[in-house]
Amino acid sequence: MRMEENIVDYLLDLLKTKGADIQYGNEDVTQLEHALQCAELAEKHKLPGPTIAAALLHDVGHLIYEDGDPIHEGKDGHHENLGADFLKKYFGEDVILPIRAHVDIMIVYQKHRNFR
Ligand SMILES: [Fe+2]
Repeated sequence: MRMEENIVDYLLDLLKTKGADIQYGNEDVTQLEHALQCAELAEKHKLPGPTIAAALLHDVGHLIYEDGDPIHEGKDGHHENLGADFLKKYFGEDVILPIRAHVDIMIVYQKHRNFR
């Protein structure tokens, strides 16, 4: 990973380049589209700025593996922690916590939904 002189430029470039090339899970959208959809939804619901930033960046961990995302080999690389650990140099806990927690939150949500 290169040293980041301007983190905003770096992240936008990362999303526009790598994010536009990588599919989001089994969905018919790229990581970039997924990030923008999440941020747009957060904005539409008038969530605070840090939450909108977290929505935009929550999966950035998928884009910063040096040797490729192990998820493509069926392995959990804990992208949420990789992304949060990388971003914590630049953002406060109001951005980092939702990023670090989003996988656990999704698991709890899906289990709850399956019990309805
Ligand atoms: Fe994720």
